[in-house]
Amino acid sequence: MSSRVAVITGGGSGIGRQTCLYFASKGDKVVIADFSEAGGNETLEMIKENGGDAIFVKTDVSKYEDVEAVIEKAVEAYGTIDIMFNNAGTGSRSPLLETKLEDYQRVIGVNQHGVAYGILAAGRKMRELGVNGVIINTASVFGYLANQSTFPYQASKGAVRMMTQSAALELAPFNIRVLAIAPGGVDTPIIQGFKDAGLTEYMKKQQMRGELIKPEAIASAVYLLSLKEADVINGSVVMLDDGYASFK
Ligand SMILES: NC(=O)c1ccc[n+]([C@@H]2O[C@H](COP(=O)([O-])OP(=O)(O)OC[C@H]3O[C@@H](n4cnc5c(N)ncnc54)[C@H](O)[C@@H]3O)[C@@H](O)[C@H]2O)c1
Repeated sequence: MSSRVAVITGGGSGIGRQTCLYFASKGDKVVIADFSEAGGNETLEMIKENGGDAIFVKTDVSKYEDVEAVIEKAVEAYGTIDIMFNNAGTGSRSPLLETKLEDYQRVIGVNQHGVAYGILAAGRKMRELGVNGVIINTASVFGYLANQSTFPYQASKGAVRMMTQSAALELAPFNIRVLAIAPGGVDTPIIQGFKDAGLTEYMKKQQMRGELIKPEAIASAVYLLSLKEADVINGSVVMLDDGYASFK
C-alpha cells in the first residue's frame, strides 16, 4: 500500500472520479477537486464506503486562487502534496467560424489555464516542501490530430503537450516530474454530447478493440505513471488510446 497525497482535478466525474477511487484503493490520500459539488461529494462518498481517506474541495480550476487554495487545503489536511493530476476538462462543438468567443474562452480557461495553474501552484508548493513530486496533465489524442468542429478543445490540448514538456524541463532540478496522458475515446459524460454528431462511433472504430475505453483503464494507467518505478517517464505525453493515433 502506498500512502501519498494526490490532488485530482475533475475528480467529480469520469476519468477523474475513477482515478480518485483507484488511488484511494491503493492507500493514497485523495483530495478531490471539482467545481461540481454534487459530483465531488458523490466521489467522496464512494471512497469512504470503500474505507479510503479523502476530502472534497470545491474548485474552479480556471481561477488561480482556487487552485492554490485546494493545494493549501491538501497540505493542511495531510501535511504534503505528492501528486497533482490536472485533469478537469470541458469541450464545445461548432464549426470553426461559428465558434462563440465565450465557448473558446471557457474551454481554454479550464483545459489550458487550469493545467497551467495546476503546474504553477503545485510546482511552487512541491519546491517549498522539498517534495519529489509528480504532476500529470490530461491532454488528448485531439492534441495531436485535427478534428471537425472542436477548435478550442484541440487548441487547449495542444497547449497541454508543450506546457508539459516545458515544465518538465524547468522542474527537473527540483526532482519534480511532469508528464501528460493523451486518452483516446473514453466512455464518460464529456463525449455524450457528441453522440448525435457520430463522433463516438468514429472514435470506437479508431480504437483497436472497437469500443470506447473504460475510465477505470485510464485511472490504473495514471497510477502506474505516478509510481517511482516509472520515474524515467518525464516530459512525455503517454498515449492511453488503445491505438487511436497509431492507424487510420
Ligand atoms: N472522455 C474522453 O473521450 C476524453 C478523451 C481525451 C481526453 N479527455 C480529457 O479527460 C479529462 C476528464 O474528462 P472526462 O472524460 O472524465 O469527462 P467528465 O465530463 O466526466 O469529467 C470532467 C470533470 O471536470 C470537471 N470540471 C469541468 N470544468 C471544471 C472547472 N472549471 N473546475 C473544476 N472542475 C471542472 C467537471 O465537473 C467534471 O467532473 C478532460 O481533461 C478531458 O478533456 C477525455
